[in-house]
Amino acid sequence: MRTALKTSAPAPIKSIQLDMVPRRAAARPRLTDSAEPCGLRFVENNREMRQRLSAPAEPMVPQICTSSKKGTAMELSSFKDMYIAELQELVSVEEQLTAALLRMAQMASHSALRDAFIRHREETQVQKDRLESILQRHRVEPKVHTDQAMQALVHETEKMLEILKGNELRDAGLIASAQKLEHYEIAAYGTAAALAGQLELRDEQRKLHASLEEEKKTDLLLTPMAQGAVNRDALAA
Ligand SMILES: [Fe+2]
Repeated sequence: MRTALKTSAPAPIKSIQLDMVPRRAAARPRLTDSAEPCGLRFVENNREMRQRLSAPAEPMVPQICTSSKKGTAMELSSFKDMYIAELQELVSVEEQLTAALLRMAQMASHSALRDAFIRHREETQVQKDRLESILQRHRVEPKVHTDQAMQALVHETEKMLEILKGNELRDAGLIASAQKLEHYEIAAYGTAAALAGQLELRDEQRKLHASLEEEKKTDLLLTPMAQGAVNRDALAA
């Protein structure tokens, strides 16, 4: 699953191999992006989201599975390398999820479900900023991995959207898919936060915990929907 790790010079992590896979230069973020105030970013994202929700839904997979990275297995020689690689994977997770949640919101029929996807998409963008700010501190490129587990989960979501017929059933399928995505994120953030703790990077551990708690809250928000109106409607349809 893991691909390659890339650093910008001068790299504090000496053992990282620099040229295992090609980088998507066009997709590389400006590191200064993370300096934008979160509140402003929220407002802009929300406006953009509302506009895009009225547009026809586009397939998820082509937007997010663009990587042709065929990296051979990379070598990580330190605990810190492993931690950094986990963070880079998480950047890819959040990036893929940002695109997926837009599509999921477009496809949702119940307004509560749609709103939940919109809210979590906003959180997702903030979480990605958090990750990038941590990686910036380590002077490491954030976008060098494609998280293939997330790709597979998003692909499964897209597949479900294609085969589930009827609004009620599709909403029930969206909740099921969203919870699988959330559980993966919970596992990934839990791991990253634990690694940060073991490296005694307390501020980073706190940031990762903040994202972890947001993921858990989203999962908890979806559960009553699955047990309540959305799935009741699907059962009755
Ligand atoms: Fe997230």
